[in-house]
Amino acid sequence: MKLNFLEFFRDVGNFFKGGTVLGVDIGTVSIKAVEITRDGEVFSLANYGILGTKKYLYFPNQAIQTSSLKISEKETSEILRVLMKEMRPKTNLVVCSIPAFTSFTTVLDMPLLSPDEMARSIIFQAQQYIPMPIKEVSVEWFPMEQYDGGQGQKFQRVFLVGIPNDVIARYKKIYKDAGLKIVGMEIEQFALLRALGKFFSEAPTLLVDIGAQSTDIAVVEKGTIRQIEQTDYSGIYLTQALARSLDISMIRAEELKCRRGLSSLGADSELSTLLLPFLDVIIQETRHAKDVYERRYGKKIEKFMLVGGGANLTGIEKHFAAQTGLTASHHSAFMGMRYPERLEPAVKSLENEFALALGLARRYFS
Ligand SMILES: Nc1ncnc2c1ncn2[C@@H]1O[C@H](COP(=O)(O)OP(=O)(O)OP(=O)(O)O)[C@@H](O)[C@H]1O
Ligand SMILES: [Mg+2]
Repeated sequence: MKLNFLEFFRDVGNFFKGGTVLGVDIGTVSIKAVEITRDGEVFSLANYGILGTKKYLYFPNQAIQTSSLKISEKETSEILRVLMKEMRPKTNLVVCSIPAFTSFTTVLDMPLLSPDEMARSIIFQAQQYIPMPIKEVSVEWFPMEQYDGGQGQKFQRVFLVGIPNDVIARYKKIYKDAGLKIVGMEIEQFALLRALGKFFSEAPTLLVDIGAQSTDIAVVEKGTIRQIEQTDYSGIYLTQALARSLDISMIRAEELKCRRGLSSLGADSELSTLLLPFLDVIIQETRHAKDVYERRYGKKIEKFMLVGGGANLTGIEKHFAAQTGLTASHHSAFMGMRYPERLEPAVKSLENEFALALGLARRYFS
């Protein structure tokens, strides 16, 4: 059987390792884009843009996409087109992301094989793990490590990713209709790791991306992704909780959440008391991902790193650390990057939101 390789994982990159590219992150409620140029060893942020829909606050079904994979190509293309009109980038080349929830990921343990044998063995195993006909899926794998399987036999562990072909086709259409050309496509967590990689130690760390409709929990160890779990408990869930408890509109609840967060001072402490049980549901999901990993590999996770808009919640990191007993690792996605002064606000306050887009763009130069 023919195996569909994810051509985009391989084709990306440009010969001169210079030039300009866009990194575009289509999230569930907003699209974020960065325009990055590379000149020798210098990376510069030429521009950035974020365009969201607030409709989801009134009609949750009208998010740009939901984890049930509902994505309106037409509307998304339209938002993308408007965003590009505002940004007026100097290129139409894009590296884009695919959310983990559209794809299948698993870890395979297999004897160390030659590359050809390996491809065959992976087709065979992929069929067992991916609940779709294998010819409708594009797969790629990433080596994790080799180990001694006993009796002198060498084993290897690989991270397997399968993306349904129709998901890829839909993203291609969205970008094409917006006048953009995809030169690379990547599962979100891999792009995040590229952007934030230097802020991880070797030790197993939870990378928690708290978005609007999805929280993705990856485990990163020794510079590679080891596991990806996903839950729908995320930013909107907290907003809904506030709206219901206080009997206020979603718009007002969203505004309160973003402005006050978990501040424990004075009148705001009531808000914090209301939010905490719901935040704890998200934390419980990350604890579950941690347990799965620790049981599987017999290793302890000791750190966590938060990213995504939800990571902006005032006081979240402290509470997360207290609830899990883990130590926070910080990141600064724009560190080392040049940018014009007018982009300072983004660089200072939007690192959680733009880390992914940045990692995508950098893919082009690596
Ligand atoms: N200061 C803040 N305090 C609390 N929450 C915030 C703050 N700023 C943004 N958020 C939340 O972050 C969420 C949006 O995050 P992000 O931009 O990462 O989402 P997304 O990428 O569109 O969604 P997803 O990753 O689920 O597809 C919203 O739920 C918003 O309420
Ligand atoms: Mg996101």
